Amino acid sequence: MKNTERIPVQTNGNNLQNYEETYASFDWKQVEQEFSWYKTGKVNAAYEAIDRHVEQGKGEKTALIYSAPDREETYTFRQLKEKSNQFAHLLKRIGIHKGDRVFIFMPRTPDLYVSFLGTIKIGAIVGPLFEAFMEAAVRDRLENSEAVALVTTPTLLERVPVDDLPHLKHIILVGAKGELTDGYYSFEKELAKSPTELEPVWVDREDPMLIHYTSGSTGKPKGVVHAHNAMIQHYQTGKWVLDLQEGDIYWCTVDPGWVTGTSYGIFAPWLNGVTNVVRGGRFSPDDWYQTLEKYKVTVWYSAPTAFRMLMAAGEDLVKKYDISSVRHVLSVGEPLNPEVVRWGLQVYGKRIHDNWWMTETGGILISNYPQMEIKPGSMGKPFPGIYAAILDDQGNELPPYEMGNLAIKTPWPSIMRKIWKNPEKYQEYFRIPGWYVSGDSAYKDEDGYFWFQGRLDDVINTSGERVGPFEVESKLVEHPAVAEAGVIGKPDPLRGEIIKAFISLRAGYKPSEELKEEIRQFVKTRLAAHAAPREIEFKDKLPKTRSGKIMRRVLKAWELDLPVGDLSTMED
Ligand code: WTA
Repeated sequence: MKNTERIPVQTNGNNLQNYEETYASFDWKQVEQEFSWYKTGKVNAAYEAIDRHVEQGKGEKTALIYSAPDREETYTFRQLKEKSNQFAHLLKRIGIHKGDRVFIFMPRTPDLYVSFLGTIKIGAIVGPLFEAFMEAAVRDRLENSEAVALVTTPTLLERVPVDDLPHLKHIILVGAKGELTDGYYSFEKELAKSPTELEPVWVDREDPMLIHYTSGSTGKPKGVVHAHNAMIQHYQTGKWVLDLQEGDIYWCTVDPGWVTGTSYGIFAPWLNGVTNVVRGGRFSPDDWYQTLEKYKVTVWYSAPTAFRMLMAAGEDLVKKYDISSVRHVLSVGEPLNPEVVRWGLQVYGKRIHDNWWMTETGGILISNYPQMEIKPGSMGKPFPGIYAAILDDQGNELPPYEMGNLAIKTPWPSIMRKIWKNPEKYQEYFRIPGWYVSGDSAYKDEDGYFWFQGRLDDVINTSGERVGPFEVESKLVEHPAVAEAGVIGKPDPLRGEIIKAFISLRAGYKPSEELKEEIRQFVKTRLAAHAAPREIEFKDKLPKTRSGKIMRRVLKAWELDLPVGDLSTMED
């Protein structure tokens, strides 16, 4: 079980000089004092991320390089400040107030980032939605959050059931043509008539700023709420984990519909005043290497499935591009296979730095740092100011190499502040007093490195995207042929896990390949492509408890040929 493989430190310039010493002496207060609001009490995370740099003489520095197959633009910090101010004025004009929810359902374009920052500037709560969501996913999130305004495009608007959402009063359309009816606004026209100066709404650091919906194993997606104070963590992890430095060109490949795309696609780079690359369009290995080459990316943050796909695309492809600008590579979202780390070292000549965190934690908590040996397969060590441990179910800390609950001592700056309208769900994370219980299992080795072992619940992680089985099952049973459905994650070499559905059919329906495809499309077009089961298996009956709950654990055991365990609660 003991792992002896080590990848030595590559000296490539870094901000965190000595992990052990820093860990021993660190205090979050030191970071807070770097921001003017520590003295003035005037807080706004969007101001800190953008406007502050303009005031400090960095207005003409490039903040955003946007590149898509059909569009390429750059924005300086001053331009982003002005455009987001204009958007903020639009929101003010239509009567959006502090605390209101403004959602963004947009492809990755500069307008998305402008809207995101502008919403935060007036103290409203921003909710970014992944552009691949279909109607049911959009509806659940807008309904639960009671969003009053939505920024979207005419194409994506087709997936928004506007008439069924009584709270949704204002639709801001990017790229709308012609006259718009009441309650609809043209993003371009409204911004054009708005002033570029704005006094941001100063908030309390504990005021909510952002909602990300994420999946658990039961119930609908939960609205994880983050406060302005999270910026402390985004800033400092940006310095010590992403190793951001003044001249860096940083690229985070993740969409802002997911937490990595906001904490590390927006806040960490801009709080650190660094140039941020956003690449629109779809993933392709060629495209990604081209992006690294063309913009001379120095720091690159991505995910294991992407690295596995790049690895599958082969070494020869890498040789076609000059990616020598890349200094630092990072990965998050799912287990990073040692094999991929070794490949990265061999082919890119770079270590891939794995790190661990969750939507709920708001920022990186466990990581490999530039100035630390990497043990391939390990997520690394806790960030300074973070105490992580492996606990048994009673809350006792377990000794090295014993597997248990990965838990973090509360609080830390970016910890979620609530689950929107669901205090019970929120409390579940804190069932061991003084600790946040992650739902992941892991162990720690004798050097303090943490090793991920799996989820303790039924949440599926497919290509780094968190999918709740309940959401998929609920959609499946809406199909006329489906009587019952149970959904599990099945291990997959490329995607980590794929979604597999076990289905029993209603009377009158016969199993067939066509029916499988039809059911798959049903989920794909109504919920989201990434939530559609790649595999479907028909069964006469599904294993259930006497109270009627589908036993996913039995499905998983069937699938993996494992012992089914205790079946005493199962119906005959
Ligand atoms: C998993 C993404 C292994 C884990 C930032 C966690 C990981 C869930 C790692 C959160 C890692 C994240 N190694 N597993 N380095 N990082 N995970 O909320 O199960 O989309 O609980 O946040 O992804 O996913 P989420």
